[in-house]
Amino acid sequence: MFAFLCGALILLAFEPGLSAAEVKFKYAIKEFSVPLDHFSFLNNTSFNIRYLYNDSYADKSNVKSPIFFYTGNEGDIEWFAQNSGFVWELADKLRAVVVFAEHRYYGKSMPFGSDTFNSSKPEHLAYFTVEQALEDYAMLITYLRDGRQLPVVAFGGSYGGMLSAWFRMKYPHIVIGALAASAPILQFPGLTPCEIFNRITTTVYETAYNANCSANIGKSWKAFETLAANDAGKKQLGDLFHLCDPIKNADDLNEFLDFLEDVYGNLAMANYPYNSTFLAPLPPNPVRQLCFYLKDLHQKDDDLIKSMASALAVYTNYTGTEKCVDYKYSKSGDTLDNKGWDIQTCNQMVMPFCSNSSDTMYRTKDWNLKDFTEKCYKKYQLTPKPYDIELRYGGNNLEAVSNIIFSNGLLDPWSGGGVLQAPNNQVHVIILPEGAHHLDLRQSNPLDPPSVVDARQREAAIIAGWINEA
Ligand SMILES: *[C@@H]1O[C@H](CO)[C@@H](O)[C@H](O)[C@H]1NC(C)=O
Ligand SMILES: *[C@@H]1O[C@H](CO)[C@@H](O)[C@H](O)[C@H]1NC(C)=O
Ligand SMILES: *[C@@H]1O[C@H](CO)[C@@H](O)[C@H](O)[C@H]1NC(C)=O
Ligand SMILES: *[C@@H]1O[C@H](CO)[C@@H](O)[C@H](O)[C@H]1NC(C)=O
Ligand SMILES: *[C@@H]1O[C@H](CO)[C@@H](O)[C@H](O)[C@H]1NC(C)=O
Ligand SMILES: *[C@@H]1O[C@H](CO)[C@@H](O)[C@H](O)[C@H]1NC(C)=O
Ligand SMILES: *[C@@H]1O[C@H](CO)[C@@H](O)[C@H](O)[C@H]1NC(C)=O
Ligand SMILES: *[C@@H]1O[C@H](CO)[C@@H](O)[C@H](O)[C@H]1NC(C)=O
Repeated sequence: MFAFLCGALILLAFEPGLSAAEVKFKYAIKEFSVPLDHFSFLNNTSFNIRYLYNDSYADKSNVKSPIFFYTGNEGDIEWFAQNSGFVWELADKLRAVVVFAEHRYYGKSMPFGSDTFNSSKPEHLAYFTVEQALEDYAMLITYLRDGRQLPVVAFGGSYGGMLSAWFRMKYPHIVIGALAASAPILQFPGLTPCEIFNRITTTVYETAYNANCSANIGKSWKAFETLAANDAGKKQLGDLFHLCDPIKNADDLNEFLDFLEDVYGNLAMANYPYNSTFLAPLPPNPVRQLCFYLKDLHQKDDDLIKSMASALAVYTNYTGTEKCVDYKYSKSGDTLDNKGWDIQTCNQMVMPFCSNSSDTMYRTKDWNLKDFTEKCYKKYQLTPKPYDIELRYGGNNLEAVSNIIFSNGLLDPWSGGGVLQAPNNQVHVIILPEGAHHLDLRQSNPLDPPSVVDARQREAAIIAGWINEA
């Protein structure tokens, strides 16, 4: 989640190289050649996307063996595979082939190799669209089916869930249905109020421990500014929070405060009931843990800021091995996968975020298309099309859609942009009152709340029904 963007679907606080302990599911890693541009006949250049493949669960004698196809999103596909245990568990139960496809321009699926994001070649970004990615998936499935009428179910979480839903909408002859977990397909201009993400996050912090948590955070912005008004205070802030780069000026301070806002959003997304390494190594119920340090309403700025430092470490130093806190996105935000998402928000995925300090714990910030467009053009020579997704995928007009499960956890700030009401009885809406960001898509855990266990059972039954009908 980039400070100047506010609200990417994920921000990797660490490089997602998988440690041995994180590798729970195994697969073969393969490559598949796709046209660079599916929609032009003038240029037949191609490149390879990666996909993960495991057919050990499938019944090889079944001529209608299902394929579970994860429509990869904004990152290295192995990381999504390890964080989507439900797909594997269900494949075991329903005897499906498992495929996780990597989204073009992410992970190792770079159309121009290490030159893909070369800023002196903006033309390299021309093929970085939702439609090109979906067409990659359609071709890969067609290749894997090899002429057989195998039922394929699409899966995805977050942006991957948006892709799985859109894939079913546009390619109903290729996928019999889709599980779209925490897929904010309505988080676009004119469809959802821009402050909803920050409002939901505020509610999560108000209720995680006690209401002093969000009140302290709301007061902290001014306390930080007061402290950082002089050089001694700036230094104190750097020392107290163990910042990698000192706070030298107002821009640094602002970047640090943006970083804090992003941390609050990320913690709400990854607010799982057990420890996890989804966005960063985190304890169980991390928002509650953070709020524990902010349970007393502080009147004095010093006390407040000291408590904030302890609280922040829940996110930045749960392992106790971090040397310093890297709040500068100009450095950490520049990993290739984070850059990829930033680029997508500058073409089609225009998701406005704003906040008002009078009804949230955030600073007041507005959003306007003009400034956003100027920034995008300056950075990538791209001009965003804010209504493109609505035009192509229908916005709220989903009456013609069938066989999609939209699941949303009400503790997830992204649920505000999710589909919470079914447009017809072939679209299933599953609400998880105690769920954070696509908790249902994760591997079962003894600490899962009953609503999540129940949601997975319903999802399994619906998907089994689609397969039986096919
Ligand atoms: C597929 O998953 C099964 C079950 O976890 C595992 O035994 C097998 O080695 C995996 N296949 C590959 C190719 O990794
Ligand atoms: C096709 O596209 C590639 C990549 O943009 C470019 O290098 C190549 O020159 C193009 N070929 C033609 C015939 O336009
Ligand atoms: C593009 O098509 C031409 C004509 O069929 C062929 O000679 C060339 O090898 C193709 N290039 C690629 C990259 O497939
Ligand atoms: C970007 O492209 C230019 C022009 O081809 C080249 O000189 C430069 O080395 C490239 N930069 C990177 C980081 O690859
Ligand atoms: C998570 O908790 C388990 C069990 O308490 C522990 O073994 C594991 O090391 C923890 N993982 C992390 C990343 O802290
Ligand atoms: C908030 O903090 C104040 C001061 O420490 C304390 O008296 C009060 O009980 C706290 N509020 C709640 C709801 O715990
Ligand atoms: C992380 O925790 C360790 C152990 O308590 C401490 O030595 C280190 O300074 C902490 N790092 C940060 C960035 O807070
Ligand atoms: C914030 O909310 C207050 C109270 O509802 C309202 O008066 C004010 O105009 C809002 N500010 C912005 C920037 O929307």
